Amino acid sequence: MSNVTVCARFRPLSSKEMRDDRDGGVCVRGIDAESFVFQDDKEDEFTFSLDRVFYEDSAQAAVYEFLALPIMRDAVNAINGTIITYGQAWAGKTYSMEGPGIQDCDEHKKGLLPRVVDGMFEQIRSSKDIARYTVKLSMVEIYMEKVRDLLDLSKGNIQIKENKTQGILLSGVTEVPVSDSTEALQHLCTGLANRAVGETQMNMSSSRSHCAYLFTIHQESVKDKRAKTGKLILVDLAGSEKADKTGAEGRVLEEAKTINKSLSALGNVINALTSGSPNKANHIPYRDSKLTRILQDALGGNSRMALVCCCSPSTSNASETLSTLRFGMRAKHIKASPRASEVKSTKTQEEPSSETKDEKRGRILEKMKERMSKEDIKMLEEVFIQEGIIFSPDSMEEVDAAYEDTVSKTIISLQQTVEELQLKVKELEAENKGIKEQAFGNLEYDRLGKMSRFISSWYASLFTSA
Ligand SMILES: Nc1ncnc2c1ncn2[C@@H]1O[C@H](COP(=O)(O)OP(=O)(O)OP(=O)(O)O)[C@@H](O)[C@H]1O
Ligand SMILES: [Mg+2]
Repeated sequence: MSNVTVCARFRPLSSKEMRDDRDGGVCVRGIDAESFVFQDDKEDEFTFSLDRVFYEDSAQAAVYEFLALPIMRDAVNAINGTIITYGQAWAGKTYSMEGPGIQDCDEHKKGLLPRVVDGMFEQIRSSKDIARYTVKLSMVEIYMEKVRDLLDLSKGNIQIKENKTQGILLSGVTEVPVSDSTEALQHLCTGLANRAVGETQMNMSSSRSHCAYLFTIHQESVKDKRAKTGKLILVDLAGSEKADKTGAEGRVLEEAKTINKSLSALGNVINALTSGSPNKANHIPYRDSKLTRILQDALGGNSRMALVCCCSPSTSNASETLSTLRFGMRAKHIKASPRASEVKSTKTQEEPSSETKDEKRGRILEKMKERMSKEDIKMLEEVFIQEGIIFSPDSMEEVDAAYEDTVSKTIISLQQTVEELQLKVKELEAENKGIKEQAFGNLEYDRLGKMSRFISSWYASLFTSA
């Protein structure tokens, strides 16, 4: 069992923070590469220790090498990985993820995403004698609780599905095959241009949505044709913000409320995952937001995960920084147990197949999807819905949700009943013991009485006979 890698990253003071706070007040004092002292609004001091702390002069390359490179390497070897940037608005999440731009930016300032793309194709190149790789890229944003396909804006409400073998899936999302880093970066740029951005007093170009970059890395061994797949997801979250600080109103306020709600849902999932007894089934509210649902596999442990807690170093943002750090500390306790994806043989038909029913169905459907046009699939789906063979995607999602929630609630209520029964049994045992003791006492008393009566009558008979 390995834990989640959690790092803190402090950006330099912004010009606004320097202007607003004449002393240039800073709430963080570094101790070393893993610990620092944080001072809150009341000047109370707390020492935090995380996997790594990146201070304002840390290089983008250092962040990449410490937390993203190992996860990227594993994903190329079919172990799923997730990298998330978290923090209040204007804390440096997008800067850490992308840098000032995806393409043509200063080499030193390049963010995690372009570095991951370069590193991934470099590793694939160096392994080309061992395996043949195909990489597919998808990009979505969660805006106002809708999952939008950033590579095809006509898909404005992508449904999230769950498959026994593949885990969480984005139904019908665009997956573009990418063969090198230049091609991948071009697609990423197109997608990013479609991202929803807003303007607040905190940030001139604030991310108004959570953005997820998904890479599916499929490999087929040259030697025995065995195939495996790794999923790598990078998530640039939208920032939490207080409306009074940002001056948000109207649509921007609505966006902020939705962002805050989904971030609270993320906090609730992490709380549920890190509290309670490990042997007890705990209801994890993944379905409370699209964000937690998409991240279900990563948060649930079937993925390596790294979290960059982006923070402002300014005393004026101390309370937000403290809450970001507490979130990171909590996430550190999530237990992760990532596994290499199931290895499937792509050998010839004559060989005995170890394919399960689900896998076989999935493979046939994939093949059909490749052969059929989008229109064919749509028409088939319409016929199936009409005939009642399948539910419409919306109701399917709802049925799934209701089923899973009911199962989980039933398990929890059964556990409560068992606990109550155990308590009752203990109470009854104690009561029974009392009754037994009393009964035993009475019995003894009775026996003693009988014995003393016998002795006195025997004693009396001695004298009578004498
Ligand atoms: N480590 C850093 N070094 C230099 N500048 C930084 C650093 N981190 C952030 N910045 C700058 O701070 C500003 C805010 O950063 P960014 O846009 O990444 O914040 P954010 O957390 O994504 O905000 P939002 O939640 O509003 O999207 C930007 O101007 C960015 O260039
Ligand atoms: Mg941002």
